[in-house]
Formats: sequence, structure tokens, C-alpha cells
Amino acid sequence: MTSFGRQFGLNAATYDNVRPGYPDELFDMLADILPTGATVLEIGAGTGIATRELLCRGLRVLAVEPDDEMARQLSRQTVGDLEVVITDFESYRGARRSFDAVVSAQAWHWFAGAYALRSVKRLLRHDGIFAAWWNIGTVTDDRLGRELAAVFQETSHRLPVLFRRPDLNETIDELARLLHGDLGFSRVEPLRYLSSVQYEPWKFVALMSTMSEVLALESDDRERVLGRLSDRLGDQVLEVEYMTLGHLAFRC
Ligand SMILES: C[S@@+](CC[C@H](N)C(=O)[O-])C[C@H]1O[C@@H](n2cnc3c(N)ncnc32)[C@H](O)[C@@H]1O
Repeated sequence: MTSFGRQFGLNAATYDNVRPGYPDELFDMLADILPTGATVLEIGAGTGIATRELLCRGLRVLAVEPDDEMARQLSRQTVGDLEVVITDFESYRGARRSFDAVVSAQAWHWFAGAYALRSVKRLLRHDGIFAAWWNIGTVTDDRLGRELAAVFQETSHRLPVLFRRPDLNETIDELARLLHGDLGFSRVEPLRYLSSVQYEPWKFVALMSTMSEVLALESDDRERVLGRLSDRLGDQVLEVEYMTLGHLAFRC
């Protein structure tokens, strides 16, 4: 296995095509709170799925993304006032910039913790906002969902993070606990939105091919998991319900 978290670029174009976006209400809410032309630091921006939404609401984005391929996709596809910095968040110093907002979509778990929140605080202006969120999916057909999960558990021993997984909920709870603590944030609010997506079988298999738990497998195992998912689905269209969960807070 290769390391988790730094391998999304192996499949960047597919990632951009098939990963689910996030509800409009989330971005509308952020744009309502922020002043026009506000500057947003986005951490772990990937190919720009959330970035595009921020840009098209008139926000200026500085996107931090360590993976070259993801960053290339991000720079190519996004229009608006965007600056891309290819680095990991741990190494980003911000050149004494002060942002109106710091956000992270489906990425905070790669660098989560008090240290990361202290860095966020340093990069935010007074009363600036921090928001981190994740999509958590559930296959609406319970039985099918269990069968698909079993395919992962047999081969990779780990369910993709996009699916209900206790450790992801722990990360989200831990984030709330830290934000409520003494790191200098206030008015902490949960984020919670529901949506659903119908997947043709090929698209669901492609979605699974972008998951870090699948990308980290040796190529034979990866092909085996994806092949077995495809066999199980046949021509069955499936629905995934997404809960977008996270937290919003203001810097004191
Ligand atoms: C699941 S993807 C999410 C991408 C994008 N935000 C989205 O919503 O599709 C996680 C991203 O975090 C990036 N990442 C991993 N470790 C990171 C780190 N230490 N600092 C910044 N980004 C990181 C990965 O390269 C990847 O692009």
C-alpha cells in the first residue's frame, strides 16, 4: 500500500468528473456572511469542486493543494479570482496575509487537530469565519449498501471515507470540541444538509476509484475491488443519500 491522503492526483480528472459537490445553500450561506470580494483560503482544494462555487459567488480564493495533478486540474478548470499554492497546509505560512474566511471541503481529516486550528486562527482576520465540512454517503438500498461495503471490507479492510464510518464522525465531533475550547473561536454552529445522487453503475465504480482507500491498494487489489463492485451492480442504478456535515465558527 502507498500512503493515504496524498494520492488523489492518480485519478484527478475522474475525481473532478464524478465526486459529488456540496449543497448550494452552504455556499450561499458563506457568501451571505462574507463581504463582497472577501478573500477565502481554501485548504486541500483538490480539483476545485468547492472552489468553483466560492468563485462564482464573487469570493476571491487562495487555494492550498499539495498534489500537482489535483492542482493542475484546479488551475485549468476554474475561472475567477483564484490563486493556487502547491503545498501542504502544514508548510503554508501565508506570507502575513489575513483572510476573511478559511474553509476546507472533505479534507480537514488529513491535517486535523489543535495545531491546524491554531494555524487557521493565525491566518484569519478578527471575526473571520472558519468552516470545514464533509459529504457522508449512504446507499439508500440497505441490502445493496451492505453488500457493497462487504466487497471493500474483504479486500481493502476499510470503507471509503465518503461512506458512513465511525472515525469520520469522531473527526467531526473532535473538530466541534476543539472549536468550543480555548483556541480562540466562538459562535460555533453545526453544518448539516441533505441531498441525493443517482449513479449509473459505471459512475459509481468510477466514484469508488477516486477514494483514497482504493487508490492506496496495490493495482491488482484495486482492479479486483472495482471489478467486484461492477459485477455486483450489473446494470443497476443506485441512489446515494449524502449528508453534508461539518462546523462553522468565528475567530474571536
Ligand atoms: C478528498 S480530497 C478533497 C478535495 C476538494 N476539497 C473536494 O471537495 O473535492 C482531499 C484533498 O486534500 C489534499 N490534502 C491531503 N493532505 C493535505 C495537507 N496536508 N494539506 C493540504 N491538503 C491536503 C489532497 O491532496 C486532496 O486534494
